[in-house]
Parts: sequence; structure tokens; C-alpha cells
Amino acid sequence: MNLNSPQFRIFSSGEATAAAVADYLARTLKSQPCLRIGLATGNTFVPIYAALVELYQAGGFSFAEVISFNLDEYLGLPQDHPASFSAYMERHLFAHVDLPTGKGLLPGVEGDIEAASRDYEAAIASGGIDIQVLGIGRNGHIGFNEPGSPFDSRTRKVELAPLTREANSGDFPLGETVPPSAVTMGIGTILDARQILLVAIGASKAQALHAAFQSVPNPDCPASALQYHANVLIFCDEAAASTVTAS
Ligand code: F6R
Repeated sequence: MNLNSPQFRIFSSGEATAAAVADYLARTLKSQPCLRIGLATGNTFVPIYAALVELYQAGGFSFAEVISFNLDEYLGLPQDHPASFSAYMERHLFAHVDLPTGKGLLPGVEGDIEAASRDYEAAIASGGIDIQVLGIGRNGHIGFNEPGSPFDSRTRKVELAPLTREANSGDFPLGETVPPSAVTMGIGTILDARQILLVAIGASKAQALHAAFQSVPNPDCPASALQYHANVLIFCDEAAASTVTAS
């Protein structure tokens, strides 16, 4: 497979990056009302969804015909637990836009996880994903594909890396620990998307961006698999971009 260079869009601050991502998504939704979009959670996307909701409220586009697929979800948390990605999506996006109930999908986490993962893959494959948005972990993870994840992996149960559990512990009430496992779209699932938009904000992401795009792809840095995709757009701030060369 050929290696590709992503296109970088670098902004002076995290706020400017978030505003630009929201603007890009709003424009895409205007031109493609039936968008099939892959969504991410995490701190990076809080200001992005806030800006997107503001643009939505100003009018001009709708989520009425959109289908969304979230990247991942913790295992072992009730869906209404405040730190679940289901609750996150409701809080930051779904409650504020006209996405029909049942069209914002998260990978199944109850019952037979393998069967739920296969169903999720089938739902995605029925029309593909037009644009997949991604954050990046400090260890280079995308979705919850931790270092060592095969580049052809599909939706499945995974164990979370200690660094990920530490990074996400702030989302949990005092005294609660981050679940050890989760369900995530695979790297292969992500690479099937027609376009990928990765967002990295802050100096804590600089090393991961460097490992992902400045060296040969290696499963030690899951995001480096994105070099095999021909249509990757990276929105980042100067702090995150400090170790990469703009192209
Ligand atoms: C979230 C996800 C993760 C995050 C990543 C960065 O759905 O799949 O890969 O995008 O851990 O998280 P933040 O933005 O909190 O630094």
C-alpha cells in the first residue's frame, strides 16, 4: 500500500482550531445533508461540539438526515453514567441538534460483545462513513486502538492502556476508576472511511503527532496507520504541531 502525507491546517490556538473544525463540519453538512459521519469524544471535542451547536442554532444546516457512528464506548458503565460516551454525546451534541433518535449510534456494549461488534461493522459497511473525525491519544491511539493494535483490526473489545486510563480519570467522579476495557471501531474500520479529519490540540499531543506522521507506520503508534489513507486532514494548533513539518 502507498504511503501518503496528510494535509495539515495549523492554527494559533486551541480555540481557533476548534472553531475551524466546527466550521468545516458545518460546511460539509450543508453540502451533504445525508452525511454518514464518524464521531469522537474526549476533551478535544468539547469546544468543537459547542461551536458546531452554535452554528447549527444560527441555521443553514440540519442533522435530520445524518447518521452518526461513534468510535468507542467503555465497557461496564451504565449508558447514563456521566462518563459514558453515550452521556457525553447527549450532553455535548445530540440533545442540541435535530439528529433523529436512534441515528446516533455507539458500538454495542451489552450482551454478546462479539455479535454487537459484527452488527456495528455491518451498520457502518451498509453505506460506509463519509467523514471520520478523530482525536489522538498521547500514546498515539485512535479510537481506543491502543499501541500494538493491528492495522486491519475491526470493531472489538479492547483493554485500555494505563496511560489512557490515567488521562481519562478526570472524567470520573472522585473515588471511581476508569473501566479497564472498552469497545472500539478498529483501525481497519477507521481506514475505510472516505475522509479522515484528525484534531490535535495542545503540547501534550506533539509527540504523538510526530510519531504518527514523521516516521514509518508502526503499530506502536496506531495513528501512524493513517499514512495508508489518501485523504487525511489534520487540524491542530501550533503547540501540537511543534514537531511536525507543515505540508
Ligand atoms: C474518543 C477517542 C479517543 C480520544 C483521545 C483523545 O472517542 O476515541 O481516541 O480522541 O483519547 O482524547 P482527548 O481529546 O480527551 O485528549
